[in-house]
Amino acid sequence: MPLSDLIEKVRSGRAAVCVLGLGRIGLPLAVVLANSGFSVVGIDIDRERVSKVNEGKAPFREEGLEAALRDAISSGRFKATTDSRDGVALADVILLTIGTPLAFQLFTDYSQLHAALEEVLSGGIYMKAIGLKSTLFPGTIENIVIPYLEGKSGLRAGVDFAIAMIPERILEGKAIEELYSLPEIVGGINETSNAIFAELFKRINPGKAILYTSPKGAELAKLFTNIYRYVNFALANEFAIWSEMYGEDAHEIIEVANYGYPRSRIPRPGLAGGPCLGKDGLLLDNNTTFSSIVSTAWKLNEAVPQYIVESIRRRVGRLYGKRISVLGLAFKAGIDDTRLSPSAKLVGILKGYGARVIVHDPYLANTSALDEALRDPEIVIVSVNHPEFGKLARRIDESGCGLVYDVWGIFDPADFKRTSYMRFGRGR
Ligand SMILES: NC(=O)c1ccc[n+]([C@@H]2O[C@H](COP(=O)([O-])OP(=O)(O)OC[C@H]3O[C@@H](n4cnc5c(N)ncnc54)[C@H](O)[C@@H]3O)[C@@H](O)[C@H]2O)c1
Repeated sequence: MPLSDLIEKVRSGRAAVCVLGLGRIGLPLAVVLANSGFSVVGIDIDRERVSKVNEGKAPFREEGLEAALRDAISSGRFKATTDSRDGVALADVILLTIGTPLAFQLFTDYSQLHAALEEVLSGGIYMKAIGLKSTLFPGTIENIVIPYLEGKSGLRAGVDFAIAMIPERILEGKAIEELYSLPEIVGGINETSNAIFAELFKRINPGKAILYTSPKGAELAKLFTNIYRYVNFALANEFAIWSEMYGEDAHEIIEVANYGYPRSRIPRPGLAGGPCLGKDGLLLDNNTTFSSIVSTAWKLNEAVPQYIVESIRRRVGRLYGKRISVLGLAFKAGIDDTRLSPSAKLVGILKGYGARVIVHDPYLANTSALDEALRDPEIVIVSVNHPEFGKLARRIDESGCGLVYDVWGIFDPADFKRTSYMRFGRGR
């Protein structure tokens, strides 16, 4: 059978799919593909995760995931396993959704990718389509993945197996919704590879926009998307620091600058980071010999937690022994993911100063309860703009703390009658 026969097999929904890596990207994707009619096997090396998933329980918080997971399991079209051989051997399409974190000295840690490629090879890749959804630095498919697969199998990419980069761009917390709605960028090694993956994603939503580019173009498109956001956040943070220097309030200024002006969409200043934004730009920057705007943005965003701690220290004096409650530990609002979280960094810095830190995050069970956090704090720092925190102004004001630091500007300063109020970007 020629490779092009896979196009029809995928279009008709008869193709078997394997998703390698049931993390924040892989699990929602596997479930959505199963609910779109494919027979899907999800593989993960984490035994606990696999058994939880097979019980219909989402191992992390994601809107709509648990209900979609239960539907997928009860339809008989989805199961998870730690045994990669069967899943890979029987699959027509294999999607790699393993992690690509940064390792020491900021180089990309490809250990998960290499292990996953070995698993893929163990099940055979002849007449299969391999799609990479993980974030990769430019040239990874051409210079690392294809040589690895061709070298170990003796097969030819584009002829004996299809391969494409289809970067994932969903937002944690909106994964299910966005898997149906976001356009898909397909960077196949050839037209057959493009067509196979286009058919796969059109089954999720026939109206889905499919955009084609090269594998390297797709790798770059993903990085450009996140760098664009990250640099904008850094700029907003720089505006915050300038506003403070001039004794003004960045929030007010950004609001008036944006209002009714179509060419200005300055984001709010705050803590920018997380497992994607905090590292993706460095995949590019770390592979160039010159210092780019990415490193400047990274330096700025990464310095904000220290900047906040120093602002507080200048206001109240020594932090040693102070009871400081930090509300929010996740890397952004509405989720339970703490990877590369700037709030976690802020907590680490406060502990380094010798403060007695109590952390409360309503999305993270291993943190203190809100009552405990608001029992006689000397300082309260609201570091994540979780929606639940918007209603806490009065309780914080009545907690007896001397100072509230509102990182995201979620409160009206007038809400605080007893407590001093500080906000990142407010120089008054
Ligand atoms: N989290 C996001 O919001 C997001 C958004 C877009 C893109 N991405 C990218 O997608 C990729 C995955 O990110 P994530 O957040 O889902 O990571 P994750 O760490 O949540 O998931 C990775 C999963 O792969 C599993 N795994 C590792 N090695 C394996 C192997 N050899 N075989 C089977 N399973 C294995 C891990 O146990 C884990 O469950 C990364 O490249 C990331 O940069 C993430």
